[in-house]
Amino acid sequence: MPTLTKYNLDTAEILNPKRRGDSGIRQKEKYSYYAGYSKSFTSRLFQTVGLHPEDVILDPWNGAGTTTSVSSELEYRSIGFDLNPVMVIVAKSSEVGVQNAQSITPLAKEMLTVASKELSEFEGFDPLEMWFETETARFIRAIEKALQKILLPNDYRMLKVRPIEDISALAALFYVAIFNMVRSLVSSFRGSNPTWIKMARTSEERLRIPNEVVSQQFLFHLQGLEGYLRQKGDHCSVSKEISSRIEVASSTKLPLEDSSVDFVLTSPPYCTRIDYAVKTRVELALLGYGDDDSFKTLRQSLIGTATVPKTKIDVDSRWGVECGKFLDKVYSHQSKASKTYYYSNHLQYFKAMSDSIGEIKRVTREEGSCVFVVQTSYYKEVFNDLPKIIIEMAENSGLTLRRKEDFLVDQDMSRVNRGTRTYRLGMARNYESVVVFEKLSSRCM
Ligand SMILES: C[S@@+](CC[C@H](N)C(=O)[O-])C[C@H]1O[C@@H](n2cnc3c(N)ncnc32)[C@H](O)[C@@H]1O
Repeated sequence: MPTLTKYNLDTAEILNPKRRGDSGIRQKEKYSYYAGYSKSFTSRLFQTVGLHPEDVILDPWNGAGTTTSVSSELEYRSIGFDLNPVMVIVAKSSEVGVQNAQSITPLAKEMLTVASKELSEFEGFDPLEMWFETETARFIRAIEKALQKILLPNDYRMLKVRPIEDISALAALFYVAIFNMVRSLVSSFRGSNPTWIKMARTSEERLRIPNEVVSQQFLFHLQGLEGYLRQKGDHCSVSKEISSRIEVASSTKLPLEDSSVDFVLTSPPYCTRIDYAVKTRVELALLGYGDDDSFKTLRQSLIGTATVPKTKIDVDSRWGVECGKFLDKVYSHQSKASKTYYYSNHLQYFKAMSDSIGEIKRVTREEGSCVFVVQTSYYKEVFNDLPKIIIEMAENSGLTLRRKEDFLVDQDMSRVNRGTRTYRLGMARNYESVVVFEKLSSRCM
């Protein structure tokens, strides 16, 4: 007998989540971010799963904010958390309404005028000087200060120490323009691994860029964002957008009441040692995270980091049988550091995932649903069936699996590492799964 549930979990349309699976006209990217799923996947799911107008949608690993921006466009309330403030700003910038498009260029010009009059007198070492000569760093900082003067309340403070609620969607969009600008200016510091960035080792290596060039770049990147906004306006049929709550928080300790969310759509950090903090290191420098403890602390707290825990972590039976088998294979692998660094790095990842899934279950209402987009990967030649591990963890935390759809992946982040590729020759392809859970009502249990 079919179960009567709140959502159409069996019949909802689940498209290939990959961004390039988007159908129709390709949307301009606001900020290059490889880890997200597509807007078309998200909106099709939301349109066919039977959401209710009063529902609250959550993404505890909100990244660039696909879940929150599609929720807003479809007029659902949503909450998005991410521990990386750069991603919180990127996600917030998606909430800018198209009516702001015409004010972008005039505001940008005003910022440049203020910046050239009030050149920044930075006390001490500016984290931007890890790539830029002092003068160039000062001019970029002056643009950021002008942005704050024009668009944020109160006096200038590094974003690292400012409440994130201060930052309006429009201010966030200007921050994204500076992110894109500094990223493209430091492109010579990137190597073949897209998630890594070097720093200047000597003062000669630091970039000296004339202020006019920085100004042109700032305007160029803002025009790109203006184009993106106008394109969004052309494709968005709704007249009114609801804005989302987007904040810095950890998935392992969600700042939400028990049973306060109806629907979760998310994709967890990859298990391939992608360092999300290093990937956004230049953007973090702009926010004030320097070559000091603030950067290190953030890096260590992000799930998927390449660092290892300071305290010993024991395997927990709630992580499931598949996770235990995979960890045994990592431990007994003959390659260097498998028993030490790699094993301990994986323990850290699975503990954080298990804690996060427990939190997601706690904040989901009974009869609510949780959808995870999860990719398989390899440790050397050892297959990591992360979708299966997540299913076991979720079931052990009290969620019930309702559906699983698999999609083959042709280019994946586990191949970023050259070393990994040698082991992977002739191995099975990775796939990405969409796994759908329900939190059953206690009356049904
Ligand atoms: C796979 S991405 C999410 C992609 C996102 N759903 C999208 O479509 O753009 C994973 C995100 O998790 C974030 N993250 C890592 N550890 C976290 C933690 N402990 N709490 C919250 N977010 C975390 C990373 O900063 C990254 O943005």
